[in-house]
Formats: sequence, C-alpha cells, structure tokens
Amino acid sequence: MGKIKNKLIKQAINASRESYAPYSKYRVGAAILGESGKIYSGCNVENASYGATICAERTAAVKAVSEGETKFIAIAIHGYSELNSSSESEYAFPCGICRQVLNEFCDPTLLVLLVSTENDYLERSLGELLPDGFGPANLNNKL
Ligand code: THU
Repeated sequence: MGKIKNKLIKQAINASRESYAPYSKYRVGAAILGESGKIYSGCNVENASYGATICAERTAAVKAVSEGETKFIAIAIHGYSELNSSSESEYAFPCGICRQVLNEFCDPTLLVLLVSTENDYLERSLGELLPDGFGPANLNNKL
C-alpha cells in the first residue's frame, strides 16, 4: 500500500494544478484508486453560476464510474488556497456532498488521505468522516 499511497498522493497534487477555480481561488485535486488497480484523478471545476461547481472528489469518482469502475479502495485529496501565501499545512476535507457520493460506491473502510504535502498527510476512513451514512443498502438490500 505504501507505494500506491505515494502514487495517489502525487496524482492528487498534480490534479490540483488543473483546477478551474477562478472564483474561489481554492484549487483541489483528487485521485481515487479503483479495485481494478486503476487510478482516476479529478479537479474542482467552478462555474460563473456558482452552484454549478463540481468538486474534485466527485470529478474523480464520476470519471471512474463512467468508465465502469464502481468499487474503490482509497482516495487522496489535496487542496490549497491561492490566496494563502503561508506554507502552513492545509488539509482539504471533503464536503458533505462528496462524502455522500463516495458512500454510494465505497465501504466505510475506504481510506481517505488528506494531503498537505507529499510527506504530510492525515489518514481517515470514510466511516469516520461519514458515520451512519445513508447508502444503497438502505433502499435495496440486494445491492
Ligand atoms: N471543493 C472541492 O473540490 N472539494 C471539496 O470537498 C470541498 C470544496 C471545491 C469547490 C469549490 O470550487 C472550492 O473548493 C471552494 O469551495
């Protein structure tokens, strides 16, 4: 897992460079590892109609699902504000909607890496970030 963690972290940082965030100036990148072993990355894509903005985590997850990958093992998330010039650690915690979207496709054991730098990151599980989440099993226990 160590090597793959590093790969995920690097890809999340790289993806944040593609962020389209002219309004908030908060750039986010995510990289999600599918059960197939493939990694999908994504960034936040903002819109002049602010509510149409899509978060990095959802970009990555939706890219994966749209390519047939529907089960995940880990996700790395990196975010930073262009307005913050200090080198202080920043961890980008996923918003509530992204936690809910991850809960659709991931077990509570999903590893979530909250990345400040390549060597400075927090580890959480999805279950810690979204306890008692509402998921597919609540609607249809055959899923
Ligand atoms: N953002 C993400 O990409 N992921 C999150 O989980 C939190 C927020 C983005 C959305 C918006 O472009 C910017 O961060 C500021 O909210």
